Amino acid sequence: MSVRVGIHDLAVATTGYVVELDDLAAAMGVDPAKYRTGLGQDQMSVPAPDEDIVTMAAAAAGPIIDTHGADRIRTLFLATESGVDQSKAAALFVHQLLGLPSTCRVVELKQACYSATAALQAAADMVARRPDDQVLVIASDVARYELETAAEATQGAGAVAMLVAADPAIAEIEPTAGVFTAEVDDFWRPNDSATAVVDGQLSIFAYRDGVLGAWDDYQARGGVPIDQIDRFCHHQPFTKMAAKALRWLASHTGAGLRPPLIEVSTRYNRRLGNSYTASLYFALAAVLDADDDLTGRRIGMFSYGSGSVSEFFTLLVCEGYRAHTRGAATEELLAARRPIDIAGYRALHAAATNLGSGDDVSVPQESSGPFHFTGISGRARQYRADAPRP
Ligand code: COA
Repeated sequence: MSVRVGIHDLAVATTGYVVELDDLAAAMGVDPAKYRTGLGQDQMSVPAPDEDIVTMAAAAAGPIIDTHGADRIRTLFLATESGVDQSKAAALFVHQLLGLPSTCRVVELKQACYSATAALQAAADMVARRPDDQVLVIASDVARYELETAAEATQGAGAVAMLVAADPAIAEIEPTAGVFTAEVDDFWRPNDSATAVVDGQLSIFAYRDGVLGAWDDYQARGGVPIDQIDRFCHHQPFTKMAAKALRWLASHTGAGLRPPLIEVSTRYNRRLGNSYTASLYFALAAVLDADDDLTGRRIGMFSYGSGSVSEFFTLLVCEGYRAHTRGAATEELLAARRPIDIAGYRALHAAATNLGSGDDVSVPQESSGPFHFTGISGRARQYRADAPRP
């Protein structure tokens, strides 16, 4: 008999600062409606100097470990575009900060905004083979583009942690998936650059090819008809993309797909901005937290990572899932962010993009999250937990 495998718990984290995109519009001399309506973005999360993908990843996963313990976690996958080292997996810092067992394999995955989906699928297959094991999948990213470019308004930051297990409490990952890969220079980040290089308009075309290509492969592999999908979560570099993707799918399939199928999925991302690998899973969190009761219903998930790899797969929402969601905590995190003006945010951006590893630096605590980047010593990054775990 096959094992039901899926998301057993899900928790999120973001940064200590937030920028109002109306302020950025004023600084850029553009109509604020371009960001609010044209891109579908209201705010963006901005990291303090003591925050990065490691501190957000650990903060997202902490509540999951507190709830379930770590004894059964045999693998930790950390998916990110914004890695902090060319060799060492950021997951190792997270493993230490969370006090995970040494009997745990740990690795980082990279493919622009896509790799969390590869991690989730690999985790599901591992658990299907060894149902007593659990896998912790964390997507964590800081989206940084050059200042005073069209892409500046589509930055952001956040992390989503998911515990993958047999007999999940939240959502089962259905086995059928469609994938589409095509080499394209729409977005990348050279090893010597702290900001992404992007051809924005090309990235939108490449995303469109990815949605349709992954959907066609999903159908060819025996996926369910489109009218059996009750909600869609699409990767949201800016939330308007979710609406575009729905329209493309509607005209490609001839189905009457209406905006309510994606509306709730944009709720967190409108306020976070782009969180790259985490963005799709923030869309999922919003639907689980704030949509109608979706017990027994199917969610279509479209993952896109520039460069490019796309995947379409589905989740079946479990009975009783609402008792395991963390919507109130997520709203608190978003509300707790401190507003920062454009000059302050741009100074943080410059400091982060100029941070090298050549000199020892000490970074004072500035954020109120549970984990902190404390600086560089002997070229190695240093972290601290407010409440160290055993
Ligand atoms: N009021 C309302 N909407 C407005 C507006 C206004 N005053 N001014 C412009 N808009 C709309 C445009 O019509 C457009 O909407 P549409 O795409 O539905 O036609 C939208 O705002 C964006 O305007 P546009 O001029 O195309 O944007 P841009 O040149 O500033 O670039 C991105 C937008 C997304 C390409 C750019 O921010 C970027 O490169 N981001 C990073 C890459 C990315 O996120 N790619 C996504 C796929 S991974």
